[in-house]
This record gives sequence, C-alpha cells and structure tokens, in this order.
Amino acid sequence: MVDVLASDIERFVRAVGPDPDDVLAEMDDYAESEGFPHVGPEVGATLRLLARLADAERIFEFGSGFGYSAYWFAQALPDDGEIVLTEVDDDELEHAREYMARGGYDDLARYELGDALETIAEYDGQFDVVLIDHQKHRYVDAFEAVRDQIPVGGLVVADNAITAGIIEFDALLERVEGGDPEQNDHTAGIGDYLERVTDDPAFETTVLPLGEGIAISYRVA
Ligand SMILES: C[S@@+](CC[C@H](N)C(=O)[O-])C[C@H]1O[C@@H](n2cnc3c(N)ncnc32)[C@H](O)[C@@H]1O
Repeated sequence: MVDVLASDIERFVRAVGPDPDDVLAEMDDYAESEGFPHVGPEVGATLRLLARLADAERIFEFGSGFGYSAYWFAQALPDDGEIVLTEVDDDELEHAREYMARGGYDDLARYELGDALETIAEYDGQFDVVLIDHQKHRYVDAFEAVRDQIPVGGLVVADNAITAGIIEFDALLERVEGGDPEQNDHTAGIGDYLERVTDDPAFETTVLPLGEGIAISYRVA
C-alpha cells in the first residue's frame, strides 16, 4: 500500500496536532491490536476541526466501526447535537456504544445496526457533516442518498480517497488523471466517487493527504 505521508512527516503532523484523550488513545491501541482500519489521529483531528468549522449540529456516518471517527466528531458537537453511527457488525457497534459512553457522548449518539444506505433512508432533515467510510464500491450510492440533505456550508468527507489495502493506487492515479485502466471494484468505486463529486457544481472538492487520504466536498450552492 502506498504511504500517503512519509513517516517523519506523519510524526510531525501527529506531534503538532491535538492530543487524543485517554479513551481515543485506548481506541488507537485497540485498532492497532486488531488491525482495524480506523481513520487514525491525523484524520480524526481533522474531522473534529471540520465539524467545528461547519458549526455542525448533526452528523451522519456511513460505516462507524468501533466508533473512533464518531468519537472525534462528537467532541465538536453541541450538547443538543446528534451523530448517527451505522455499522453492520454488532460487536463493533457495541464497542462504539461503550467508548462513546465513556467519553460522555452517549446522549448525542444514535446507534444503527444494518446497512447504512437503508438507515439513511429513514432519516429526514439536514446533516452538516457526513463521513463515508464503508464499502468503497458503494460510495457513489452513499453520496447520492445523502446529497440533498447537505445544506450550503455543509461537508461530505470520504475516507480512502487515495489508498487502502484493497485499492490499486497506480490504477487510481491513472484514473484521476483521465485514463481508463483496469481496476478492481474498490478502486473503481473510489474513482467513480471522485468523478461524481468533482463533477457536481454544487460541491467544491479537495483531497487532503492525511491518513489514507480524505476527499472533502464542501457544499457551495
Ligand atoms: C473502515 S471501517 C470504519 C472506520 C471508522 N469510520 C473509524 O474511523 O473508526 C468500515 C466499517 O464499515 C462497516 N460497513 C461495511 N459495510 C457497511 C454497510 N453497508 N453499512 C454500514 N456499515 C458498513 C464495516 O463493518 C466496518 O466496520
């Protein structure tokens, strides 16, 4: 897998960025011991910052795992805010519930077991920030499903915009530069997603090289 940041730069970014609290540090240890692909502290801190900048009151996640990204987001929410966690694995969702409760964020959280695309269909109203971090070949479907619920000034963030164990970086690079390479379904899913959001005139999209790469799409109209 390609390294998005050189290791000394990653150390630099991590050293200057905000420190994870004790629960997040424990969650980092859990991810490392289980080999779980959480977003990691650089992206987590960036998600929290984006939520603060957007004055987020309501957040939706496609794929929450054991709650790591949700925990960072929750720290930016007001007391009457809401974050919807979605997950198909009930053990991971139970871990998320425990970690969020330990941080004091349980009252903000809605825990939805099952397919995130079915869950979003049950939620009305606007979401100020959305994180897409589930099946790569369904990112476009996730964006389509939630697009009209993003207000001007709201954000959609997609993880693995540059890499992941299952993504073929060389093919993805060729794809974003306008080529038409052979791609597996995961790589094609990310390529299709980046094409979809960058073609949408209502959103301005940029990719930040942190973690495994995040695509940030800001609603401008
Ligand atoms: C990369 S992990 C999410 C990590 C999380 N955002 C974090 O940073 O801690 C992806 C998660 O999506 C879940 N998932 C896969 N397909 C899903 C679906 N259709 N709906 C909801 N969750 C799904 C997986 O079980 C996995 O836990």
